[in-house]
Amino acid sequence: MTPIKKNLKRDIFSSKFGVIAAAAGSAVGLGNIWKFSYVLGESGGGAFLVIYLLFVFGIGLPLMISEFIIGRRGRKDVFGSVKALSPHTPWFLLGYMGIAAAFLILAFYSVVAGWSIEYIVKAATDSFADKSPEQIKEMFSSFKSGVFWPIAWQLFFMGLTAFVVYSGIKNGIEKYAKILMPLLVVLIIILDIRAITLPDAHKGLEFLFQPDFSKLTANGILRALGQAFFSLSLGMGALVTYGSYIDRNNNLTTTAIEVTITDTVIAVLAGIAIFPAVFAFGIEPSAGPELIYITFPNVFQLMPGGHLFSILFFVLLAVAALTSSISVLEVVVAYFVEELNIKRHQATILASVLIAVFGIFCSLSIGNNLGGFHIFGLNLFDLLARISSDLLLPLGGLLVALFVGWYLGKNTIREELSNFGVYKLKFLKSLVFILKFIAPLAIAAVFLESIGLFN
Ligand code: TRP
Repeated sequence: MTPIKKNLKRDIFSSKFGVIAAAAGSAVGLGNIWKFSYVLGESGGGAFLVIYLLFVFGIGLPLMISEFIIGRRGRKDVFGSVKALSPHTPWFLLGYMGIAAAFLILAFYSVVAGWSIEYIVKAATDSFADKSPEQIKEMFSSFKSGVFWPIAWQLFFMGLTAFVVYSGIKNGIEKYAKILMPLLVVLIIILDIRAITLPDAHKGLEFLFQPDFSKLTANGILRALGQAFFSLSLGMGALVTYGSYIDRNNNLTTTAIEVTITDTVIAVLAGIAIFPAVFAFGIEPSAGPELIYITFPNVFQLMPGGHLFSILFFVLLAVAALTSSISVLEVVVAYFVEELNIKRHQATILASVLIAVFGIFCSLSIGNNLGGFHIFGLNLFDLLARISSDLLLPLGGLLVALFVGWYLGKNTIREELSNFGVYKLKFLKSLVFILKFIAPLAIAAVFLESIGLFN
């Protein structure tokens, strides 16, 4: 049986709602609004959505439960938790993978979050007024290919992220997440109402909800899997780290279910706000990473009070990004603090600076300021976005499933999920079966298929 670690010096989330706000804050972010919509747009719409939902509930939810188990059982950073639960085995490599993934993810994530701050300024100064869809598109392209502002905002955002992580989690982000996440939902619903009353809204809704499986490719399936992991913050130990701050009495299963549902509902609501507008304004659904930045400004122009809503929307987008980015940075900082014995403050600065440097190159690669530097036909930004979510996260998820399903095993899972007998577990058998067989095989199959092995 695996030992239960006591580590009483560590911080712990203060309440059940605090746990959900923090974990949902991590899950709900740019992934739900920015990434979900453009990946869905590039990968064929409704059919992608069906596969995505299958992955979220069939594989993502069991893995979220597993990450919480590892963290709460190990009571350390991702590397330390895995190591504590499996001493003298190579499983600690899983921890290193998570830390590497955190670097890559935050490097491009902070760039996109920086864009949302630029758009707060643009919205506040009423820059979208009376612009045609072409002009709005042009506005975005000329901004993102610049050098100074994208980097300035990206560094600003990294600074905010560092500030929150630096001052600990309890009184900062836990408190704000509780107010701001519900506000984000209300706002998206208002945008939904505007979007579905646009002329030809049905085209967008059909694109989103009418699956046409002939449009689905092997690559689209892989991207649905990667997107499920990315959106739920899985596969790199962010939720292992948060799990290590969850107290013994928390029901990990219900927490994971609530977080998964919240995350999925927000992604779908974002899709309902975006695609009708995409079709109404003649934007290509496959426009890529810039999709929301060229779609929403058009919608705001047509809304009563659009100016105010546009400011609010981009503020909330930035906030959603922030509650996610802190969970990524926390993975690295917790590792520095607990394994390398660096003080929290220094660890935060060190990690942020290293990641920021990486992020600058990411930002420059978009505007071709790196002399058209490409790997596998992708610029650095796209490369990091793809490698992390379509490769590292699924691989991390595969290893987590094997670790919890086979190595920790049924008894440990039962103890953690029943809180040593407090809760009845009717689903235990199916969960263990998914972790041992279904999830690893499905992930492996999607991988092999996408590299063309089955053809
Ligand atoms: N889930 C977040 C989003 O959707 C991003 C994120 C936060 C993340 N922590 C993560 C992605 C850990 C992968 C792994 O925007």
